[in-house]
Amino acid sequence: NKPNIAVVGSLNMDLVVTVDRMPKIGETLPGESLKIIPGGKGANQAISCAKLGADVSMIGALGHDAFGEQILTQLNNHHMTTDYIAITKQAQTGTATILHTKEDNCIVAVPGANDHCTSTWITTQDAVWKQSDVLLVQLEIPISSVQTALELARLHQVKTIVNPAPAKPLSDEMLALADVFTPNETEFEFYCQSTITSEEELFFHMKRWQQKYDQQLLIVTRGKHGVSYVANNEIVTVHAPKNVAVVDTTGAGDCLNGALAYAIANDWELQDCLVFAVEAASLSVTKFGAQAGMPTLEEVQQRVALRK
Ligand code: RIB
Ligand code: NA
Repeated sequence: NKPNIAVVGSLNMDLVVTVDRMPKIGETLPGESLKIIPGGKGANQAISCAKLGADVSMIGALGHDAFGEQILTQLNNHHMTTDYIAITKQAQTGTATILHTKEDNCIVAVPGANDHCTSTWITTQDAVWKQSDVLLVQLEIPISSVQTALELARLHQVKTIVNPAPAKPLSDEMLALADVFTPNETEFEFYCQSTITSEEELFFHMKRWQQKYDQQLLIVTRGKHGVSYVANNEIVTVHAPKNVAVVDTTGAGDCLNGALAYAIANDWELQDCLVFAVEAASLSVTKFGAQAGMPTLEEVQQRVALRK
């Protein structure tokens, strides 16, 4: 019985320039290479779920152009349902220009067609709401559209995971629609509206958040430190494996969220879900590109078995 996951979100073409180091303001640097590959947080997360073996429906919008076609081909190759993707003539397919070094990346995303993933479009795709176990959203499409998706999910008793990336203001009403909320540390700082400079401060704010939003599960993703959450007012950290040969961290967060959605849709114990998600993400950083690094179920299970 495959889990059914709906991903409502962005689809981009990633224009990835590999450099030795980030340029300074006003500086010109020679780049090593330019690679043009499908990305977008929504699509990346959808591919993450699909590669693990979930039945995935992707809801989003593409432009009527070559990038849009290439992205659609990529999604179809991963056997997901693409019938719920709007093709608009009013805007170009979204792009993300990425400066990539081994350790880091800087991204400038132009939403383009992603802004045409409207509330109306989302509402019209009723088949999705009837069949899904879990809805996974990020914030690269209009916030009003994300809210509509969350409301529809609630209405149909579909569990929701909100990955607030990139961080944007969210109303309390919207936060209340998130069953699981998965900011990274920087995004969490944004939502707490205070600077967090130590682990102590992070844990303090996490406990406060968890008390305030007591119906929601807060999971803070912490890169090479793994993930942390609050249980009975205590912090639990699921550590990432050590000595990972990092090639490209682009899409690592997307991989983690996709794997988490897969695990949650399977109704696993929380601790098992997080170990699975953390191991998946650390596999994803060993390969170049946001989508090419998404691991298969077998690959993740092997890593999970090694922890025991
Ligand atoms: O999370 C990584 C993604 O963010 C990239 O694929 C890029 O498209 C940006 O949206
Ligand atoms: Na990667």
